[in-house]
Amino acid sequence: MIILSLLLGVLALLVLPRPVVSVPTLLSAPHPRPLVLWHGLGDSYGSPGMLEFIQLVKDMHPGLFVHSVYIEENLKEDQKAGWFGNVNEQVANVSIQLAEIPELSNGFDALGFSQGGQFLRAYIERYNSPPVHNLITFGSQHMGVSDLPLCRPWDVFCHLARRAARGGVYTEWAQENLVQAQYFRDADQIPLYLTSNRFLAVINNEVDDSVNTTYANNLASLNKLVLVLFSQDKTVVPKESSWFGSYAPPEEDSSLPWQEKTIIPMRLQPIYLDNRIGLKTLDERGDVVLETCDGEHMQLATECWEPIVKKFVGGLVEKQSLDSSNSQTFLHA
Ligand SMILES: *[C@@H]1O[C@H](CO)[C@@H](O)[C@H](O)[C@H]1NC(C)=O
Ligand SMILES: *[C@@H]1O[C@H](CO)[C@@H](O)[C@H](O)[C@H]1NC(C)=O
Repeated sequence: MIILSLLLGVLALLVLPRPVVSVPTLLSAPHPRPLVLWHGLGDSYGSPGMLEFIQLVKDMHPGLFVHSVYIEENLKEDQKAGWFGNVNEQVANVSIQLAEIPELSNGFDALGFSQGGQFLRAYIERYNSPPVHNLITFGSQHMGVSDLPLCRPWDVFCHLARRAARGGVYTEWAQENLVQAQYFRDADQIPLYLTSNRFLAVINNEVDDSVNTTYANNLASLNKLVLVLFSQDKTVVPKESSWFGSYAPPEEDSSLPWQEKTIIPMRLQPIYLDNRIGLKTLDERGDVVLETCDGEHMQLATECWEPIVKKFVGGLVEKQSLDSSNSQTFLHA
């Protein structure tokens, strides 16, 4: 114990900008880097499943501060906001929410379930203040979906959203009000998607004349981007979207009506090749981690999520109590 604290003292001295007078009061105990969660579609920030997951992660990393992102404080309303609302506005509001939490002020790891994953990525690309260290996404739709999710019989919001989407996912109304329409990316209608989509096409920097370089710089500032795909995912179409894969556009003169669709993998995506969002930078640095969970969408088996959360969440951070700036010594990732 004594050896450990001495060692930490030395580490802290190395990064301090000015002479240190009082070493003993300099350090607070190292603590795990905080975690921010964004739940998936059909869920809410405080559902029994989310609360259980939070508890399990806290048991794994004692002393961990966890914040579960909400759009509405009321649980039912929060669940509804996963179907209905304007995603750009939701992400903007969440950026204010996160900036107001003192525990997060030195940065945090972020973990998104399903659509929560691409929403956290949008936070990083557009705001990232406080900054995200590791981003982990489970079954997220980074290259969108080519199909709307099927509804369980009793899922009222799902049925309402599906019915509303019949009027078209690329109408102005749908792009302002239907969450899934805002990441609907139909490989058969890419030109329409590029001109009409208000969220995914924008955060993916797919629109040629409005590329925002801040998005790439911010995403490339991550320590690790961990992308988890569910091997039997039938909810996310195509499931490779969780790894930035998408269906290839149909061949112009294809005469076969039911040709097997081809997947364009991440490393062959135009946005990767042009490094539009910093993915290539991260990947060439070895900081894009591709993981697979066995099972259907969001079947979070313990043996799948535990090693990932153990490795990429809760790294110990040494906060310098004498220095009011936000400089930190990272003990390990
Ligand atoms: C964002 O916050 C504003 C101000 O609190 C609120 O009026 C608005 O409804 C919120 N928008 C969303 C999409 O939550
Ligand atoms: C690019 O995105 C950043 C972050 O959202 C924003 O502040 C900036 O205004 C955007 N730049 C342009 C040219 O739209």
